[in-house]
Amino acid sequence: MANSLQTSSSTTTARLSLRSPSSDSGLDSGLRSISFPLKSLKFLTRQVVIKQPNKSRRTTELVVKAMEVDISLSPRVNSVKPSKTVAITDQATALVQAGVPVIRLAAGEPDFDTPAPIAEAGKNAIREGYTRYTPNAGTIEIRQAICNKLKEENGISYTPDQILVSNGAKQSIVQAVMAVCSPGDEVIIPAPFWVSYPEMARLADAKPVILPTHISENFLLDPKVLESKLTEKSRLLILCSPSNPTGSVYPKRLLEEIAQVVAKHPRLLVLSDEIYEHIIYAPATHTSFASLPGMWERTLTVNGFSKAFAMTGWRLGYLAGPKHFVSACGKIQSQFTSGASSIAQKAGVAALGLGYAGGEAVSIMVKAFRERRDFLVKSFGELEGVKISEPKGAFYLFIDFSSYYGTEAEGFGKIENSESLCRYLLDEGQVALVPGDAFGDDSCIRISYAASLTTLQAAVERIKKALLLLRRAVPV
Ligand SMILES: Cc1ncc(COP(=O)(O)O)c(C=O)c1O
Repeated sequence: MANSLQTSSSTTTARLSLRSPSSDSGLDSGLRSISFPLKSLKFLTRQVVIKQPNKSRRTTELVVKAMEVDISLSPRVNSVKPSKTVAITDQATALVQAGVPVIRLAAGEPDFDTPAPIAEAGKNAIREGYTRYTPNAGTIEIRQAICNKLKEENGISYTPDQILVSNGAKQSIVQAVMAVCSPGDEVIIPAPFWVSYPEMARLADAKPVILPTHISENFLLDPKVLESKLTEKSRLLILCSPSNPTGSVYPKRLLEEIAQVVAKHPRLLVLSDEIYEHIIYAPATHTSFASLPGMWERTLTVNGFSKAFAMTGWRLGYLAGPKHFVSACGKIQSQFTSGASSIAQKAGVAALGLGYAGGEAVSIMVKAFRERRDFLVKSFGELEGVKISEPKGAFYLFIDFSSYYGTEAEGFGKIENSESLCRYLLDEGQVALVPGDAFGDDSCIRISYAASLTTLQAAVERIKKALLLLRRAVPV
C-alpha cells in the first residue's frame, strides 16, 4: 500500500513511500520507500476496505504494478557460449540424483581428497581466526612460496610483486586476457583447446583465432602454422601443457621453435597455462615457456592448486609475469573479487610445502592416473577404427571416434557428430563424456579418467557394448 509517490524531474524514476504499518491496521510491511525506473511501473488506484477491530474504513489504495521488464542482455554476454563441460556434468549429476546409474567421466576434477596436511592447514586457518581480507594480490607468505616454487621447479625468477593470487586459475586467465587485449586483437588458440579460452577472448572483445592441430602429430602446434597465422593484430598466444583436453605435453625443443616464431612479433605475448604441470608421465617432462631465452618478458605464466593438489573447491590459482602486466591484472581483480580466500591461501602455502612437485602426496595421485591412462589406452586401442594419441599428462583421453559417425542405433537415430555420439553413450551406455566440438575438434570425445579403475572398467564395458549396437546407415 502506498501513501505517497514522487517522480523525479527527469521522470525516469519513481520513489514510492509506504505507510508505516500502524499497529491497528492489521497490515504489515517491512518496506518504507523504494525507487523504481518509472518506465517499468504501471499506476492504478483501487478502493479497498480495511478491516479494524471496531470499525471498517474505506480508502483508496495506489496499486503499483511492474510492467514487462526489458530482458535484453549485453552483446558481450550474447557472444559467449556457456561451458559444455559444466552443462554435461550438471546433466549427469541430475540423472544420478534421479536414480539413473550414470558413470560420470565428464568433469575435469581429480577424484581424490585434498591431501590431509593441506586440509589441516585450512582448518587451522579458521581455528586461528585467519578469516579476514588479505591483500588483493595475496599474502606475502603465499607469494613468496610461489616465487620459491617457480625458481626451484621451473627455473623462472619472480619477486612477490610479480605474482597475483586469484580465486582459481580461471580467474587468473580471464583477467590476463582482459588486461592485455584491446577490442579487435587476436588471441591465438591451438585446438583442441580448453573450453574457456575462446570465450574469454570474446569477453575481452578480442577475436579468437583457432589453429587446428592433428591427432597424428599428438595434437601439438606446428610452429610453421603458427607463423603463417600471425598478424600485427595477434596479441596473445595461449599454450596449455600438459593439455586439457588432449593430455599432450609440449617437448622443450618444440617450445623453443615456437619461441623463435613468437620472438619475431614484438606485440605478441604468451599465456602459458601450466595448471597440469605435476600430472605428467615420465619420460615426459614439463618446460615453463617463460624459462626459454627471451620469453620471460612476454610470458604470463598461469598455474593453480586445483588439479595437482586436488583442491578444485578451494579456488586458488595464480599468475606470474612482468610487473607491468601483473599489476594491470591486479587492478581488475581489485574491482572484481579482491584477494582470494584467506583460508585457501593458508592451505596453498601448505601445499607448496609438501616438497618438490608436491612430494609424495602428489606422486601417489599421479601414479594412479598413470595406471588409469594405461588401462584406457589399451582398452580403447583394441577397438577398430578408433584413433588415440597416448596422453603424456593431465587426466584426459581425447579419442577420435569419427569412424562411428554416420552409423545409427535403433530407437536413437543417426550418430552425426561428437555431440550425438555423447548423447547416445549417455542414453544407451549411461556414461557421461564431453563431445570434442566443445574443445574445437568434432572428431573426438573427451574421457576424464579422474575416476577409480573399477569405475573406468565398468565405463569401458558400457561404451563398448553401446558402440557394438551401432550399425552403418543404409543409403536410401
Ligand atoms: C587447462 C585449464 N586451465 C585452467 C583451469 C582452471 O582451473 P581452476 O580455476 O580450478 O584453478 C582448468 C580447469 O578445468 C583447466 O583445465
